[in-house]
Amino acid sequence: MEDQAEKLREIMKRKNDNTAPVKAPAPVKNGIKPADKARIITVTSGKGGVGKTNLSVNMALAFARLGKKVIVMDADLGLANVNVMLNMIPKYNLYHVIKKQKTIREILVETEYGISIVAGASGFSQIANMGEEDRRDFIMELEGLSNADIIIIDTSAGVSSNVLDFIAAADDAVIITTPEPTAITDAYGIIKIIATEYDSLNMGLKLVVNRAKGAAQAKGVADRMINIAGQFLNLKVDYLGFIYDDAAVPHAVLRQKPFMVVDPKGKASICVQHIVDRMGRNKTIATRGFGGMLRRLFGEPNTA
Ligand SMILES: Nc1ncnc2c1ncn2[C@@H]1O[C@H](COP(=O)(O)OP(=O)(O)OP(=O)(O)O)[C@@H](O)[C@H]1O
Ligand SMILES: [Mg+2]
Repeated sequence: MEDQAEKLREIMKRKNDNTAPVKAPAPVKNGIKPADKARIITVTSGKGGVGKTNLSVNMALAFARLGKKVIVMDADLGLANVNVMLNMIPKYNLYHVIKKQKTIREILVETEYGISIVAGASGFSQIANMGEEDRRDFIMELEGLSNADIIIIDTSAGVSSNVLDFIAAADDAVIITTPEPTAITDAYGIIKIIATEYDSLNMGLKLVVNRAKGAAQAKGVADRMINIAGQFLNLKVDYLGFIYDDAAVPHAVLRQKPFMVVDPKGKASICVQHIVDRMGRNKTIATRGFGGMLRRLFGEPNTA
């Protein structure tokens, strides 16, 4: 905890350092929206293995079916798995970007499902170990992705400086838990850290309960967490919905296909559709995109 708090303070210090380059908003051309309007959704959890990658990929598919241009970025540099879930072996991944051998745009690959992915790196130490300048370069590289409508960032579990950077950069931070007490405790832990250090960012914090037996159980879990966050952290967390514990999920994972494709009418798929519908309706925060992401990460004099 001590170490995590230190990292957060570092991030916040950088946020208040106004030396970072500021990106001018892109002009609207031929009816195409400004390039920096991508909505960034970061999916995270306290405990590992609770369903982040499944939610990220399947949510992306649901958005794509609504006509959105979606990119899923696997921000895991230790144990990347978005590409594994889609049975793809991209030649290049974030490792090559971090090593400055490729740009993010160059490593972007299209999938057969109408979404694009940025593959994470396996067995590579985290961005947290990079120098500040390198990290800033990396975030600048992310700008190359901003022609998307939606960028979903699938993070590794837990609190690292890397994960927190992506949470800080998000328009929406989706926290995922299961009904298990350990997962709930860890999800609360990450919410608490966000609340303590990031209150000025005022992002939309959203909760998804995965692997629930039903709506009532999930609502019970969500209500408890939302009440505690409100009462003790003075933080508003929105309940985005739940996903049934559904055998179609591990079945699809084994086949290395999204469950939305293998079992589109199944319980889990319908739940993801509801979640995406709710996210579509629930655009309370004006999308700030990559321009906003940089400002949030590095600070800008004229942001209110
Ligand atoms: N709704 C569900 N119903 C049944 N099983 C599920 C469900 N969601 C996830 N699982 C199971 O949990 C496993 C882990 O899911 P996933 O890889 O999406 O988690 P993760 O949070 O991304 O894990 P990690 O922290 O390792 O990145 C899946 O392979 C699947 O077996
Ligand atoms: Mg994962």
